[in-house]
Amino acid sequence: MDKSEKLALSLSGLLLVIFFASIVYASTARNIDVPTCITDVEPFTSDTLFQTGPERYELQLLARMWAFAPSTIRLPAGSTVDLYVTSQDIIHGFKVERKNLNLMAVPGAINYMQVTFDEPGEYRFACHEFCGAAHHTMSGRFIIEEAIDEPEITE
Ligand code: CUA
Repeated sequence: MDKSEKLALSLSGLLLVIFFASIVYASTARNIDVPTCITDVEPFTSDTLFQTGPERYELQLLARMWAFAPSTIRLPAGSTVDLYVTSQDIIHGFKVERKNLNLMAVPGAINYMQVTFDEPGEYRFACHEFCGAAHHTMSGRFIIEEAIDEPEITE
């Protein structure tokens, strides 16, 4: 084996170790979740918000040309949301501002991630995959309030 080949192999091996260690560090020390793709269940066909516990919600979010359903989600501060995203037509994206949350919305599959909203405020989300003529209109928002009577979703 040539010396340059050995060097290239060693560097590749080193990079693999660094990348793997970064993933382990992110998920353990920084508590950063990796999105999960669920392929073994039929995707849901309507958008829903359930309360599953104290300060705990499950949101089923649909992406389609060219809107999200629901587009507005109102929740109390401190809520943790189990977020399930799918698409009814083509591939879309789902990115929430100021949150480490970035998912693909894929037809025929569900992507899952958990997100916690501690700070009250508005967190807009948008489609980040170019999906056609009105891609730029695909957006929505989480409205997080200090105290609300009833969490709600609107189209
Ligand atoms: Cu959906 Cu861009």
